[in-house]
Amino acid sequence: MLDKLKEIEKTALESLQSITDQAALDTWRIANVGRSSPLMMVFAEFGKLSKEEKPVVGAAANRVKVALESALAERAEAVKNAALAKSLEEEKLDVTLPGRTKHIGRLHPSTQQLRRVLDILAEMGFQVYTSREVETDEMNFQTLNFAPHHPAREMQDSFYIEAEGREDNPILMRTHTSPGQIRAMREAVATNPQNPPPIRIAVPGMCFRYEQITARSEIQFNQVEGLAVGKNITFADLKGTLIDFARRMFGQDVRTRFRASYFPFTEPSAEMDVECFVCGGKGCQVCKNSGWLEILGCGMVHPNVLQNGGYDPKIYSGFAWGMGPERQLMLRNKINDIRYFWGNDVRFLEQF
Ligand code: DAH
Repeated sequence: MLDKLKEIEKTALESLQSITDQAALDTWRIANVGRSSPLMMVFAEFGKLSKEEKPVVGAAANRVKVALESALAERAEAVKNAALAKSLEEEKLDVTLPGRTKHIGRLHPSTQQLRRVLDILAEMGFQVYTSREVETDEMNFQTLNFAPHHPAREMQDSFYIEAEGREDNPILMRTHTSPGQIRAMREAVATNPQNPPPIRIAVPGMCFRYEQITARSEIQFNQVEGLAVGKNITFADLKGTLIDFARRMFGQDVRTRFRASYFPFTEPSAEMDVECFVCGGKGCQVCKNSGWLEILGCGMVHPNVLQNGGYDPKIYSGFAWGMGPERQLMLRNKINDIRYFWGNDVRFLEQF
């Protein structure tokens, strides 16, 4: 019996040495100290032993049991430590590695400038009115006082979308935001035909012209139209508003000047210049040595246009203007080629 116990101990301890994972440890425990293990069988057969054998074998069996259990505990600890060491090694983090920077998107420079313009105009009391990009000839030209064969119509070569069967009123991409004036006036009149409310709006958006694309001309660009209609509105209001806008946009000290001009939808008409902010008025390449930069066209709304909008020109008057955010950005940032705006080269766009 004692030999058998020695043999049990020896085989068990030997097989334990090769164990490296928890599952094998469990199997080993069941096989060597479990209820039906050879060692437990010795305890089960204890009753068959003689009086003299009992204490000797009992002591020996207990010693083997304790030896196996403590060997198991020791091995379990070693297996656990090995597993921990392995996971530490495999999941090692090098916190000194440089991070990967995320590419952060941004608003297009045109949108940024458009928002600057609208923010200023909003502070001055102008509400944004969104008009459509696809227009009729009637809205884009006729109601704005362009006569059918008016030479001014030649200024705007248009993208026509549908002309067949409607030669007298083809559908086209708007060439300017001015048709928004008529739509806004008609909407306002519809709310109160007897006594239409005053209007103070800014109409932002894309315009389209059928042009040869060059450094100076594009087939699409943004405009911001302004329109104020009410009683007793004068050219002084126009000047006051636009000079205030220029100061807010280009700086409180900026000098401005108005030059007489011509647009079919305004009378009188003017263009506004700001003193060249590149050379301070001394003359440079950007202002072509004039010292001034043209930034917008404007004028008093023509009586025919008021009439077409539904406002009686004997009672109401108004002023309007149109300006280009891309042009403002080009002047401001000395961008010498308008094609950069829709070229989508991130090296350009990232600079804003
Ligand atoms: N519609 C003109 C253009 O596209 C810009 C303009 C000039 C708008 C004078 C106006 C204005 O409202 O009064 O060039």
